[in-house]
Amino acid sequence: MTKRRILVTSALPYANGDLHLGYMLEVIQTDIWVRFQNMQGNECYYVCADDTHGTPIMLKAAEMGITPEELIASVSERHQADLSDFHINFSQYHSTHSDENRYFSELIYNRLNDAGYIKKRVISQSFDPEKEMFLPDRYIKGDCPKCGAEDQYGDNCEVCGATYSTTEIKNPRSVISGAVPIEKDSEHYFFDLPQFEKELKDWTKAGHLQEQVSNKLAEWFDQGLEQWDISRDKPYFGFKIPGTEDKYFYVWLDAPIGYMASFKKLCDNSDLEFDDFFEKGSDTELYHFIGKDIVYFHALFWPATLIGSNFRTPNAVFAHGFLSVNGQKMSKSRGTFVLARTYLESLNPEYLRYYYAYKLSSKIDDIDLNLEDFKQRVNSDLVGKVVNIASRSASFVVKKFDKELSKVCCEQELYDEFVAASSEIVGHYEDRNFGQAMRSIMKLADKANQYIDDKKPWQLAKEEGKMQEVHEITSLAINLFRVLMTYLKPVLPEMAEKSEVFLNVDSLNWDDMKSPLLGHQINKFKPLMTRIEDEQIEAMIESSKG
Ligand code: MSP
Ligand code: ZN
Repeated sequence: MTKRRILVTSALPYANGDLHLGYMLEVIQTDIWVRFQNMQGNECYYVCADDTHGTPIMLKAAEMGITPEELIASVSERHQADLSDFHINFSQYHSTHSDENRYFSELIYNRLNDAGYIKKRVISQSFDPEKEMFLPDRYIKGDCPKCGAEDQYGDNCEVCGATYSTTEIKNPRSVISGAVPIEKDSEHYFFDLPQFEKELKDWTKAGHLQEQVSNKLAEWFDQGLEQWDISRDKPYFGFKIPGTEDKYFYVWLDAPIGYMASFKKLCDNSDLEFDDFFEKGSDTELYHFIGKDIVYFHALFWPATLIGSNFRTPNAVFAHGFLSVNGQKMSKSRGTFVLARTYLESLNPEYLRYYYAYKLSSKIDDIDLNLEDFKQRVNSDLVGKVVNIASRSASFVVKKFDKELSKVCCEQELYDEFVAASSEIVGHYEDRNFGQAMRSIMKLADKANQYIDDKKPWQLAKEEGKMQEVHEITSLAINLFRVLMTYLKPVLPEMAEKSEVFLNVDSLNWDDMKSPLLGHQINKFKPLMTRIEDEQIEAMIESSKG
């Protein structure tokens, strides 16, 4: 089989706050897939970046009395520390506030403009006369025009559920200054999305999207595509639009271009060729992992932007659902809005990697992190099943057989059955049906434990002349463990590494696993993973409250 060359991205997290367990679902899903691809011998790169532009980041920095550059630098450091501690293995992590991103944003804009895809027109918008800035909807509050509820956001009422335009709201005021907004005209730049209707319709039907997503898109096409406002007036933290003095690219224009920018940075530090991955017609593969809330940007705006500026389009956009905790939206008061760092202070990142893998499929259904189920699932599957196979067998091999595995495989059929499961497991990983992959692996783990239970080596060891048998049984168990850890390696890289030390092998991989280790010297067994205790979960919830 020829080696595939693949570029993969996760959505870029906003640089105005710390990462939470919802975003971790996305990067863990992506990271597992990338690690899996590389283990299959493919050449797979994974890039991401902080999404640094826009009004919220500008205002947050002002509120903190620092520059936006200072804010995004400190956030970037914390994001990268969190991601690395969850074993997210990026080829490159960059920033949208970078030279590379400015370059590609301008290039793409200029190409779109030259091709006639940029239109200008004057629109009227709410303006804060004190702060002298235009106000995005969420920066206006007032009384609901339908039910009269006070202190509602500019575009929807949380009390009666009504949606309206910011001009309809009663007693409007700016959230920033408290001033009454006025209406003000300004010229805006629009990306002429409707010109791409035909090409987008074809693209969205050509197998690049999940079925649930395609259906959503069909609805959007029925409603009709509209021109997309890609400019913002100053003051704004972002890139100035070429040829203007006071207009900036809307954050969502340069954010996906950040994928390219991050990859360009990687190319500049390696022998990778940027064009191999972004030139029109290139035979490499490009995939974007995203949450279902940003499908519009990735399945309509982004492909249209790429088509219009003569770059390749992605092979697929993979959307996932939203994370809830204990069946409800993450909530600060319930202590279920858990930051990545808070989790790490109490719990092993691989618990969560496994639990997410167990829950993930190729669908966009939401995913619930039920903390009781999380504890039981991890304790029962990883500690109770997988680690148990090694821990109950290792002591025999280490103490009675001088750390050497038996020279023969006593149940070749059983071993071959474990190896034969590979194609099914590979298929599940490839299709992002990680839950199915985990279930297949755990079925094998059950089988291995059953085998040990049936053979009872601890009893045989007490009988006369049975030591050879004990050696073969426990050696086989360790070889079965090796196969299982190979399958789990994309999900549990750290535990796989510890297993490599225990098994005394360079690296667990799909090729080596096909034949068992015979007459091979292993190392002393050290605990690979401990059980989750209630107190750890309670501590995490406690520090997430407030
Ligand atoms: N900055 C944009 C993405 C730009 S991509 C060119 C953005 N940022 S975000 O920080 O709000 O979200 C980043 C990703 O995390 C998105 O894919 C989003 O769907 C995902 N998630 C945010 N909250 C989530 C959950 N509660 N559950 C699962 N994914 C979640 O959007
Ligand atoms: Zn209302």
